[in-house]
Amino acid sequence: MKKAIIDSLKKYKWKILLQIIFIGINIYLLTYPAKIIGNIVDMLYNINENKQEILNNTYYLIGICIVLLIIRVIWKYFETYINRAVERDLKTNLFERFLKLKLKDIQNIKNGEIMSYFVKDIMEIRNIVYRILSHGVRIVFTFVIAVYQMIQGVNLSLTIAVMGPILIGCYLVIKIKKYVEISFKKSQERFTEMSEYIQESTDSIRTTKAYSCEGEQLKEFIRKNRKVRQSNNTVDVYSNLLTMCLNICFGICYSISLLYGSKLVIDGVITVGELVTFNGYVGLFVNPVNWIPGLISRFKRAQIAYKRLDKIYELETEKINSKSNINKEKLEGNITIQNLNFNYPGIIDKALENISIELNKGETLGIIGTIGSGKTTLMNLLTRLYSIPNGKILIDGKDINEIPIEVLRNNICYITQDNFLFSSSLKDNISLFKEDYKEDEIKESTKKAVVYEDIQKMPEGINTVIGERGGDLSGGQKQRVAISRAFLKESSILIFDDTFSALDNRTSEKLIENIQDLSDKKTCIIISNKVSDVKYSDKIIVLDNGNIVEKGTHEELINNNGIYSEFYNQQSTKAEPSILA
Ligand SMILES: Nc1ncnc2c1ncn2[C@@H]1O[C@H](COP(=O)(O)OP(=O)(O)OP(=O)(O)O)[C@@H](O)[C@H]1O
Ligand SMILES: [Mg+2]
Repeated sequence: MKKAIIDSLKKYKWKILLQIIFIGINIYLLTYPAKIIGNIVDMLYNINENKQEILNNTYYLIGICIVLLIIRVIWKYFETYINRAVERDLKTNLFERFLKLKLKDIQNIKNGEIMSYFVKDIMEIRNIVYRILSHGVRIVFTFVIAVYQMIQGVNLSLTIAVMGPILIGCYLVIKIKKYVEISFKKSQERFTEMSEYIQESTDSIRTTKAYSCEGEQLKEFIRKNRKVRQSNNTVDVYSNLLTMCLNICFGICYSISLLYGSKLVIDGVITVGELVTFNGYVGLFVNPVNWIPGLISRFKRAQIAYKRLDKIYELETEKINSKSNINKEKLEGNITIQNLNFNYPGIIDKALENISIELNKGETLGIIGTIGSGKTTLMNLLTRLYSIPNGKILIDGKDINEIPIEVLRNNICYITQDNFLFSSSLKDNISLFKEDYKEDEIKESTKKAVVYEDIQKMPEGINTVIGERGGDLSGGQKQRVAISRAFLKESSILIFDDTFSALDNRTSEKLIENIQDLSDKKTCIIISNKVSDVKYSDKIIVLDNGNIVEKGTHEELINNNGIYSEFYNQQSTKAEPSILA
């Protein structure tokens, strides 16, 4: 995280430097109006003699105000530019990081948390960068320049007298900030809790409606929202207390200036004009001091946000090499799995046990098995979504751990069980936003995936934008749109993980026929719970509880009279008679 922030700041170092220089000039010029007004006040004692001089000083004052305005516009431009640019860089960097995280780590992060990283935490970091570069720098310059002018231009003892209340104010800020920090942490935790709840509720809206539990959901939301409000109130109370303390100190500061300053005027140590100038200087640095509580509480918030984000940056990432020549490397598609055992991180029970499979280029493997038997897990390992020891899975005789991850994944087209669709056009969903494909190629893939006619009926055909997660498509349409990706992507290994479950037998038969047509060139793995989906495969394995319990061709397995033939018999009685062999 630190590196991401530093890299981003380095990119704008000249703009940052210019911003600081212009703030410095701005603060320096800000001391002039107080000085000029003080001079004018002193000249008023002899108004007739000093008429021209007073007029000149007034022009001078107007001139300074115009220059101040121009300088302010310039540094505000730099401030806004840096602010937005840093935010953009940090978000891009974090998103890139997420994409490279290992699946096991991503699964441990809740959706609400992810949103709050992007929406809240990045904002906090951006905010503190902005505040340090703007408020922080102004505080430092004001203290240095205004205090110097007070001592040099007016009086040292008066300066010391007014600095006392300000330092007391600073002390109080340090004392109270601890409570701001604690209450803010609590507020952020509750906000995340509420975000997670919103996310979960939107994800489960169909179930909520089906069971008519809107009332309960709303009640729970109100409870969580109330907790957020309560903790935000506490944060506000402490923040306001801080500001109030400073305002009181500021009031005391002005009183001392007037009382002690008047005495110095009476004693003839300073003139009335100098006292006016001095009060002008006091007014100058009281404003930046008022920013200190905000700066401190923002700093604390940013610290918490930084720690949260840093946890993401501490996670190991996949080593993805983006060199284009590596990406183009082709694999033949011969797969060897030997004595593979696997258990998910932190879980003792094995998800896969002693798995051995030999699959040659152009062959089709059917995998059938009970729910939770390890079918998806096996595919997750083949695509290296989880780590496995060396020598367990080989492709073209090469250990998959030695094949660069991007080469491996470019050569495998994995149609996952969840058929995730983006809320974008069907074309983007099939091409997965890659622009290398021609319209005709995409059209052809939809024909092979038996979804072409459905797409033609949609308002804008292939350019129809679908709802979030494909909400406005039927389950079967979603599956076939996802399957189209397999017919489009130039990959040597195709995996269909339970992607025919929502299709009727006639459609899945047609699809499997089209897949078989490809299989001379490609190695296919078809995972299904239906015998009719896998029966044409060259090899079939039956998985049960992480073990291969049967292996062979359709005919061999039927003759075995094992689980496969049991599945077959159960499904034959339910299925459409014309489709079963
Ligand atoms: N990320 C995970 N962390 C821990 N355990 C997991 C994880 N994913 C799956 N499992 C467990 O591993 C076992 C195999 O799951 P897997 O998803 O591979 O089954 P499957 O055969 O694909 O099931 P289905 O037919 O329902 O798709 C199950 O017991 C499951 O609970
Ligand atoms: Mg599965």
